[in-house]
Amino acid sequence: MPAFKYKLSNKIGPITVEDYRELAERSVPDMVWAYVDYGAEDMQTLEANRNAFARYMFKRKVLTGNEATDLSVTIGGETLSLPVLLAPTGSAGLSHWTGEVGAAQAAENAGTLSILSTAASYSYEEVAEATEKDHFFQLYPWADLRTGRHDLTLSLIQRAQRAGYRAMFVTVDVQVIGNRESERKRGMGRPPIITPARVLNGAMKPKWWTAFLKHRRMGGRNLVEGVGARAAMTSINTQYSMMRPELNWDDFAFMRDNWKGPLYIKGVLDADDAQHAVDLGATGVVVSNHGGRQLEGDVASLDALPAIAARVGGQAEVLIDGGIRRGSDVVKALCLGADAVCIGRPYLYGLAAAGPAGAQHIIEIFREEIKRTMTLMGVGSLKELDSSWLLPADTAIH
Ligand code: FNR
Ligand code: LAC
Repeated sequence: MPAFKYKLSNKIGPITVEDYRELAERSVPDMVWAYVDYGAEDMQTLEANRNAFARYMFKRKVLTGNEATDLSVTIGGETLSLPVLLAPTGSAGLSHWTGEVGAAQAAENAGTLSILSTAASYSYEEVAEATEKDHFFQLYPWADLRTGRHDLTLSLIQRAQRAGYRAMFVTVDVQVIGNRESERKRGMGRPPIITPARVLNGAMKPKWWTAFLKHRRMGGRNLVEGVGARAAMTSINTQYSMMRPELNWDDFAFMRDNWKGPLYIKGVLDADDAQHAVDLGATGVVVSNHGGRQLEGDVASLDALPAIAARVGGQAEVLIDGGIRRGSDVVKALCLGADAVCIGRPYLYGLAAAGPAGAQHIIEIFREEIKRTMTLMGVGSLKELDSSWLLPADTAIH
């Protein structure tokens, strides 16, 4: 019999978050990739975030008759079709020119919401106008370089309120910028250092380069009124000089007093801190180490989750982000007490590789993986998930 003749086809597109990561790396210049994908110093916290998930395995049941079909949850009074939100990421316009608008549209098409960064490439107003639903926003309580202590913070809150945002996420783990050496080595410093070699590297991604030159979506669109249009354009420098290590709980109370909707504190790893925020009126906490971009040596966010959930779960919503790349990671986080998770880099991979469609596909990948994981575990609904479904990965005998 003659050998079959066939052609290998690589038409199968990306089917996992990691597939998108590989495509994304090839789609953007090295400087941008360093900004998106790397972390602080030796990136031990970045790695710890991922490794933490592998330390848990599932303890499944058979013949339960359960199939997970409904993944909906309510966060900040909004019903989401799955327990996954898009975390705030600054300068998403560097990953793809559609930036945060593309991400927010992808989120709503997938039945969830995005949290718009203060450092976004599109302003609060631009994203609100380009979307149907009211999304959430993130607040960096930055200093107004021209006038004083809370002026810019207050005006950002009021603008977001006027634009119709539903919930405010105050990020508290960026007192100063983390030590992003890998970014600096590739020119993403303060300000970015553009050399001929880096321009050439950008030009080798012609699609990215053309769109970037055409749309010029870097960051800082929310800052124009605080620092002026010029400074906002070179916003990486500006943003870093506006961070305020002196912020304290009284400032958090000030932000609460000036915001009418659900309020979240983002960047908490300690149960006492979580309790403090809830005592001051927080609707919820986001257990997060900023994706390993801030304090190198921070524990994995998954490892900080159980104590925080034990302390404030029931009184407040508990969200987590950091290293979530699979539906099974989401399920593990929910088993350990989270109500929902946020993803950061994964949707930026989607955007960089394939624009808003890529970002939406990322969310759909999570949805399918969560459903399949739960069904194979024998779990029909999110409410059933608790720590009894997990075992330590090194358990030899159950
Ligand atoms: C971020 N993150 C972030 N957080 C925040 O509150 N405001 C911001 O402007 C940004 N900017 C930002 C940019 C980029 C490129 C990344 C990757 C992350 C942190 C983000 O909200 C989230 O905490 C982490 O991304 C979660 O980790 P994973 O999902 O990226 O592993
Ligand atoms: C980040 C925030 C500081 O890059 O914008 O993580």
